[in-house]
Amino acid sequence: MQEIDKIKESVDFINNVVATRPKIGIILGSGLGELADEVENSHKLGFTDIPHLPPSTVPGHSGEFVTGKLQRTDVVVMRGRYHYYEGYDLVEVVRPVRIMGLLGIDVLLVTNAAGALNRNFSPGNLMLISDHVNMIGANPLRGPNIDELGPRFPDMTYTYDRELIGIAEEVMKKEGVIGRKGVYASYAGPSFETPAEIRMLERLGVDAVGMSTVPEVITARHMEIRVLGISCITNMAAGFLQQRLSHDEVMEIGQSVKPVFKKVIKGIVQALK
Ligand code: HPA
Repeated sequence: MQEIDKIKESVDFINNVVATRPKIGIILGSGLGELADEVENSHKLGFTDIPHLPPSTVPGHSGEFVTGKLQRTDVVVMRGRYHYYEGYDLVEVVRPVRIMGLLGIDVLLVTNAAGALNRNFSPGNLMLISDHVNMIGANPLRGPNIDELGPRFPDMTYTYDRELIGIAEEVMKKEGVIGRKGVYASYAGPSFETPAEIRMLERLGVDAVGMSTVPEVITARHMEIRVLGISCITNMAAGFLQQRLSHDEVMEIGQSVKPVFKKVIKGIVQALK
């Protein structure tokens, strides 16, 4: 079965279960899933309930689509996502983005947990993504182009929407939240980076590193969906401090930033009205 037919079957399935016309799609990263509980008139669909979506396997990612209203705007929220390191092909990793695209979103708010390379940053900071470096070594658009969704060689010059960044900066300022901005690099994982890799990324001008987001963003831009990316800084990158990195630490900081994170996302959704 062709990829586009799988996507359309998933979209038809969702449309049959819940009448929804979301304007904004939100992907919630590690430890940040709780915002999904604030969606009103919500309808939840487990990833595995939807045709062609595999189960997600990471702790902290329960894996569901939540449709409904946030700040009285129709949204579709992904609580959990697929990562390359779980063993999926990138085409599977990004399938939910294409589904959200065909459900009608024109803005994708994508979030993640990330380690900071920028020494001005601290755990708990939120960083607006200004650009990315794809260190995964693969691209979700590899293979026959789905002409119906976008061009063979999509431009990536204006990947992170300037206007959306401006809106997010205003919201953060109004809420008294420190607004960081920088370049995000995605590693395939699942091992964290070595200190030598971090020094390399530093020289490349990278401010934060994680294991997601880039494939989803490339896919969204292929479809000309406007993108805003927010990294929740959960730790300083490997080798910065005399200590090891752990997923528990990532989840813990994710927990403590939750109130601020929710406030900022809701503020942005409100401002996009
Ligand atoms: N590296 C990669 N991914 C991450 C990190 C990190 O330091 N922190 C949270 N996700």
